[in-house]
Amino acid sequence: MLAYRLHAYASTPPLHLDTLPVPTPTPTQALIHTSHAALNPIDWKIALGHVAEHMPLPFPYTLGVDFVGTITSLGANCPSRLKKGDRVMTLSRALGAFAESLTIESDILAKVPDGLSDADAATLPIPGLSAWQSLHAAGPLEPGMKVLIHGASGVVGALAVQLAKAKGLHVVGTASGKNREFVVGLGADGFVDYTREKFEDVVGMGSVDLVLDYVLVGGAANTTERSWGVLKEGGAIVSLADPTILGKIPEGKRGFFPEIVPDVEGLEKLGRMLRDGEIKAKVAKVYRRGELLEGMEANKAGGTTGRLLVDFRRA
Ligand SMILES: NC(=O)c1ccc[n+]([C@@H]2O[C@H](COP(=O)([O-])OP(=O)(O)OC[C@H]3O[C@@H](n4cnc5c(N)ncnc54)[C@H](OP(=O)(O)O)[C@@H]3O)[C@@H](O)[C@H]2O)c1
Repeated sequence: MLAYRLHAYASTPPLHLDTLPVPTPTPTQALIHTSHAALNPIDWKIALGHVAEHMPLPFPYTLGVDFVGTITSLGANCPSRLKKGDRVMTLSRALGAFAESLTIESDILAKVPDGLSDADAATLPIPGLSAWQSLHAAGPLEPGMKVLIHGASGVVGALAVQLAKAKGLHVVGTASGKNREFVVGLGADGFVDYTREKFEDVVGMGSVDLVLDYVLVGGAANTTERSWGVLKEGGAIVSLADPTILGKIPEGKRGFFPEIVPDVEGLEKLGRMLRDGEIKAKVAKVYRRGELLEGMEANKAGGTTGRLLVDFRRA
């Protein structure tokens, strides 16, 4: 089988397409034939060595965090709810999704609901769980709470806007002006074009209950740092982009950098919501297997609205 592996940090090309034996599942693992893998900022952040301290990897190592695929075999001690031929999805903290096949602990596999395509399902694992878990990370949500979402046009941000609106929150999203209609179309009550306006001027200082930070590169334009000022007393920033936030929490405010974890029930619920049209997730482009590095580069460049996927069944 073919797998995209990291041989060294910050190298050119960033990953090598290597030929490997198909792995054998342990008793608790499933062997998956990958249908679609999704591209995430964490892929190129890992490849550049940006998270090497928190997440050291032995080389060579297959990257790829989330995927949709079909179970081709199951170890003897896997849950009885799973069977050969099931379409499944999850986020893999052990990585390995940029491969034609992978083995993974079966208890984190969510089933793709009937009626949802593999490509549509592949929009969900990391962004859906990231949006859901970060939205709830700072405590209970009350209808009418004011939330400022940085990176509201991104794959995580777009889902967070919709999930926050479904909870009855008042949502203001920041993104570049070309994405205004997209973000407002998702239900945002207000929009700030970060290329032309200061979000502080639009939302007002001391007025926001919760800031969700999904900016492509953490710390860009001091977004996280500047956000403390717009929070009410006791308000919180939940950042997925800037881990340094934890060392900078001012008195009277709260800050979180939550670890996003697999959640079978939550992901299956998001799958049903997507299938039933309760949430929308856009596929921007589906690359062929041989084009994965091109897709990774596009993800790093930013500016794409929607999910970048790789169809591993197409050479
Ligand atoms: N810690 C975790 O487990 C975890 C999980 C998922 C994601 N993340 C992080 O979350 C971030 C978003 O991921 P993603 O997949 O949603 O990326 P994405 O789809 O590329 O979205 C990036 C977003 O950042 C916006 N942006 C860029 N510069 C900005 C600025 N100065 N102010 C406000 N918005 C700005 C972009 O807006 P325009 O395109 O409209 O300019 C876009 O909405 C990344 O940093 C990623 O690493 C972390």
